[in-house]
Amino acid sequence: MSTAKKSAVSLAGLLELVETSTIASIKGTVGGILTLISDPAATSADFIQFIQLDPPLAAKILRVTNSSYYAPTQTISDIHQALIWIGFDTLKEIILTQKMSELYGGGAPVDGYSRLLLWRHSLAVALLAKAIYSREFSEKANSAYAAGLMHDIGVIVEDQLLHQEFAQLVQTLGNTPQVLSVGEIAVFGFDHGMVGKGLAENWNFPPELTEGIGFHHNPDGAREEHRLFAKTIFIADYLMSEHYGYVTMPPPDREILERHVKDIGLPWDVLQASVEQVREDMEKIEQGGAYQVA
Ligand SMILES: [Fe+2]
Ligand SMILES: [Fe+2]
Repeated sequence: MSTAKKSAVSLAGLLELVETSTIASIKGTVGGILTLISDPAATSADFIQFIQLDPPLAAKILRVTNSSYYAPTQTISDIHQALIWIGFDTLKEIILTQKMSELYGGGAPVDGYSRLLLWRHSLAVALLAKAIYSREFSEKANSAYAAGLMHDIGVIVEDQLLHQEFAQLVQTLGNTPQVLSVGEIAVFGFDHGMVGKGLAENWNFPPELTEGIGFHHNPDGAREEHRLFAKTIFIADYLMSEHYGYVTMPPPDREILERHVKDIGLPWDVLQASVEQVREDMEKIEQGGAYQVA
């Protein structure tokens, strides 16, 4: 990468571009849902009110709830019924997932990379992060799901707003395997974790989420109170990248993974069982067409 020319856009410049791009169209809904997710006092009535303000979102929620993944015994035709069938926590996840999927449509595949692969990766990481976090820390599994789903949002920003340089970088990685972040620093002067963190800060995401997104490749850098959360996202990302990768790159050092797993305190056999469960869930989700990108 030594011959690569540094991007003319700074991180601050890119984050400004985000605000005037179509990416910002999800800001209001995603910000609103994250605020509700992180508010322990928020009730199902708050969420229903939120959904009813957005009829296309309500229609999509019904479509997902009626998919074979959630397999209702009879057709569900309103949000109250949906809530009873799938539960409050799942409803929150569906809203967020549906909204986020809007960013991943279109775009031609480039040398092993595509937005669809990145979307599948994000979904798989969300499911595993939730499984790990709910088992080890019981609370805030919704936040772990949200962080998993959004951890690589910086990649979609680069893909959409710095497309030519991003596509060139992906091609380079195909020929000379290296960690994506290293290539990004060489080409852009920043990596997708930094982009995601900046976006999360600008959009006032809860701090835990901002740290989880920003430090998913280097959780030791996260603030102490959010470090185990960031480690959870790292572990989910690492383990899901094998079957749900989106770009050619070597996995990071296995010893680092082992250290973070030890810190979380999760037994390997349990972790392995969770990985298998997520793979089964992903197959069901994909067969049922629950979360399609536009
Ligand atoms: Fe990443
Ligand atoms: Fe990732």
